[in-house]
Amino acid sequence: MQDLTPGFGGLSVVSFESRMADEAVLLIRKYGGQPISAPSLREVPLEVNTEALEFAERLMKGHVDVVLFLTGVGTRAVIRIASSRHDREAFLRALAGATVVTRGPKPIVALGEVGLKPTVTVPEPNTWRDVLATLDRRLDVRGKVVAVQEYGRANAELLAGLRDRGAEVFRVPVYQWALPEDTAPLVHALRGIAEGAADVLLFSNAAQVDHVLEVAREEGLEASIRESMERLVVASIGPITSEALRERGFPVDFEPRRSKIGVFIQEASLACPALVARKREVRVQIGVWERPQPAAPLAGERPLPCLDGSFMKACRREPVERVPIWLMRQAGRYMKAYRDVRSRVSFLELCHNPQLAAEVTVTAAEQLGVDAAIIFADILLVTEPMGVGLEFLRGEGPAIHRPVRTAEDVDLVREVDAESSLGFVFEAIRLTRAALAPRIPLIGFAGAPFTVASYVTEGKASEHYLHTKGLMLRDTGAWNALLGKITRATTDYLNGQIRAGAQAVQVFDSWVGCLSPHDYEMHVLPHMRRLFAGLQAGVPVIHFGTGTAALLELMKAAGGAVIGVDWRVELGAAWDRLGEVAVQGNLDPAVLLTDEPTIRREAWRVLDQGRGRPGHIFNLGHGVLPQTPEENVHALIRAVHEYPVEKV
Ligand code: CP3
Repeated sequence: MQDLTPGFGGLSVVSFESRMADEAVLLIRKYGGQPISAPSLREVPLEVNTEALEFAERLMKGHVDVVLFLTGVGTRAVIRIASSRHDREAFLRALAGATVVTRGPKPIVALGEVGLKPTVTVPEPNTWRDVLATLDRRLDVRGKVVAVQEYGRANAELLAGLRDRGAEVFRVPVYQWALPEDTAPLVHALRGIAEGAADVLLFSNAAQVDHVLEVAREEGLEASIRESMERLVVASIGPITSEALRERGFPVDFEPRRSKIGVFIQEASLACPALVARKREVRVQIGVWERPQPAAPLAGERPLPCLDGSFMKACRREPVERVPIWLMRQAGRYMKAYRDVRSRVSFLELCHNPQLAAEVTVTAAEQLGVDAAIIFADILLVTEPMGVGLEFLRGEGPAIHRPVRTAEDVDLVREVDAESSLGFVFEAIRLTRAALAPRIPLIGFAGAPFTVASYVTEGKASEHYLHTKGLMLRDTGAWNALLGKITRATTDYLNGQIRAGAQAVQVFDSWVGCLSPHDYEMHVLPHMRRLFAGLQAGVPVIHFGTGTAALLELMKAAGGAVIGVDWRVELGAAWDRLGEVAVQGNLDPAVLLTDEPTIRREAWRVLDQGRGRPGHIFNLGHGVLPQTPEENVHALIRAVHEYPVEKV
């Protein structure tokens, strides 16, 4: 049957659906697309399921108050597994005696098959938020034992939400996903995607995302798949799948109004042609920035010229002819070229796109004429694979949707495999290194464990850090476990950046100044020591913090070839205390809102304090403020470069 609507209009559409793979192919064709079927999973029932059996036992003893069924297949599996060990009727009687909550229509049908009815039903679209909102209206779970039937991966938000409401939660996983027996079609499709042969990807289940990534990685295609996904249209069947995509750093361009495969494909067919055109247009516009890449230096043959430039010399405290300068946030909103790019892509999309991130990095460094480039990224990217729900809200900065505040929350924070989940940053570094003038060093960076932990516990920027300090002081075990996870991730992440081509790295401990020296020493210093000890030797590390007047000696003890300070200490006085180490800083960023003579006077006042001491790297005390006039940044760089050579 030929449909009258033009639909996909001949686009090539990849479907990762497995159970309904054939139906999906027919639907894509019906709506005018060229289907590429790439089944990516297979359900594996957990036949020997100790959790489900334990659940049955506890339920029959009357120790479970509420049972939450999330899927129809899962509901049937629980009943089947329980009946394999226990008397089926007795189990069903016990279930009838508990408060049963269902999400969506399918578990209701499954319960109906055994003559049961739920006590509370959660209507569509039934994400974890809807489940919690319904419970808030209908059922007080405080002090209750709540069993949650899970499918695929655990839903950390739902579990945390139930615990926040005072429930004792226990999880009943009933089936998991495996790769299909035959992965050839998936591999074939991924190669096609990497080569630019696909226009639209249809994700119809959250578990598909991990499988696609896993196979892409095995085939050595991850970076090209990620890059392609910025160009083609990524369609997700519903909010749970979208969340899985975003958590792994993929864009989500389309979601249907209802999470049904038929509706999904039909609505996608209507929306996708325009979305594909828009994404291509963005590429073309941004392409204005594209430059022919100079040939990469011959690896291993000759050291990069930048290793002998003023920045690297200063890191090693060797004499220089002029004080090197670079600026934190040198590629940022104060810069028109940056705002132009940001008008077309979101901040996270920009970070996830190695080509664009490299272009932004190189353009900023070259326009400014600074002595070092810093890779365009963010200290919070490392929290994405931890599964805490990172988002950047327009105009409001970062938000973490599942803040980590208890020992249980810490347990749910995933260990990070930097190579697989942050590989896009490594790729951006490789592209930047190849495009950047060979004499300009490239700085990689990461947040320090304390500062990253403060975001992860507060959920956003904070004034008093009450949750962070609460966890740190009340539950040292949980605190150390959290900092341990962040430290391991950060060590891997920075070493990966170094391997990818960064000549130096900076560790941003932007918020550590809120701590007393005692608390820093007890709760932060050991982790910082471990971090510095784990980093590739021979690569200078800049250890930066703000508001650190009381912590300088401890920061130096923690590590770093260069200590970064802000303007709330006088550079000379700070250096006297620090002794034998290079120092970076420390002009107040507010000075850049004045005028050229003031900027020159204040910059030279800072330079005078570093006079005669090898190892001064000029910088602001913190990032360039968005309201800074661009010409003032140029004026600062001129002023630093024109500081009389005999004074250096
Ligand atoms: O310095 C550079 O040019 C490299 C890029 C860079 C960014 N963030 C880009 C960014 C670096 C080094 C960072 C580090 C960073 N990120 C820190 C430590 C340094 C500091 O400023 O204290 C922190 C705390 C973050 C977390 C973060 N990222 C916040 C609090 C915000 C929102 C506030 C703000 O300035 O907008 C971001 C967003 C962010 N990171 C932007 C940029 C250019 C602005 C996002 C946008 O384009 O809208």
